[in-house]
Amino acid sequence: MMTILGTTRVLGILGWPVEHSLSPIMQNAALAALGLDYVYVPFAVRPEALPNAVAGLKALGVAGFNVTIPHKSAIIPLLDRLSPEAELIGAVNTVKREGDLLVGYNTDCSGFISSLRSDLGFEPAQSRILLLGAGGAARAALVGLCQAGAREIVIANRHVEKGCQLVDEFAAIFGGTQFAAIPQDAAAFSVELQKFDILVNTTSVGMGGSVFPGLDLKAMNRNGCIYDMVYTPQETPLMNEASRWGLRSANGIGMLIAQGEQAFARWTENAAPAGVMKKALLTALTGK
Ligand code: ATR
Repeated sequence: MMTILGTTRVLGILGWPVEHSLSPIMQNAALAALGLDYVYVPFAVRPEALPNAVAGLKALGVAGFNVTIPHKSAIIPLLDRLSPEAELIGAVNTVKREGDLLVGYNTDCSGFISSLRSDLGFEPAQSRILLLGAGGAARAALVGLCQAGAREIVIANRHVEKGCQLVDEFAAIFGGTQFAAIPQDAAAFSVELQKFDILVNTTSVGMGGSVFPGLDLKAMNRNGCIYDMVYTPQETPLMNEASRWGLRSANGIGMLIAQGEQAFARWTENAAPAGVMKKALLTALTGK
């Protein structure tokens, strides 16, 4: 059990609901491993209470906090400054107190890119990417991939018009990357699939065993790989399909860990201790 002192600084996570969050387990394990005088706590904040909660956290002098569903975009007007990535994505998952200011960052974006590199050995520069989904998680992935120098990104979304909107928005900002939007169906997948270096699922499809109708990875380039942001079950349906065709794949656990490690480093100005968040997370997920 950690000791709370008069000097202990507070970190936390704002969400509604927040009970399911694994961030307290990961962050407190890392703080304890380094013996840092901080504590990380969950704050269950109803949407209508967000402005008061943020003002309260500022007045209380908390060192920083994570932000999760449903507050990632709603918090933006309540902050004093944003990082360029958070601004482009339109979502904040990490806030740091800097002097008297609350500054918003997005470590989902940088965490995704670092997980691609470390968990799949995948380098986004000059690559061709098929991105499934066009919501908030897709925006974080898109900004990271474009900043890392992706050559081409094709967005396949269930509602294709949302993919088209994203293409229009990002094509105007990232001139070095080619964009297109396609429907999320068997006909579109069968024409496109072989040209991609990686397929990234940013939707919740796969949680609890659901699958994308019409997505058959047989046509995928054999050197290609799959990144599935889903991590429950840990062996996702898309990963099962990938291993059937001999394709490398990873689930979203690495992204969850990397976003946490990067938030930790920002708040405490210490690199997160290697492997500590991962161990805490896997223990929590497997219940062992
Ligand atoms: P997040 O922040 O997790 O990305 P979001 O912004 O609500 O959440 O976006 C959810 C994404 O998952 C969207 O791309 C959504 O597709 P639509 O825009 O067509 O709704 C996608 N999604 C959710 N459920 C889906 C399903 N059953 N099949 C296909 N796509 C789904």
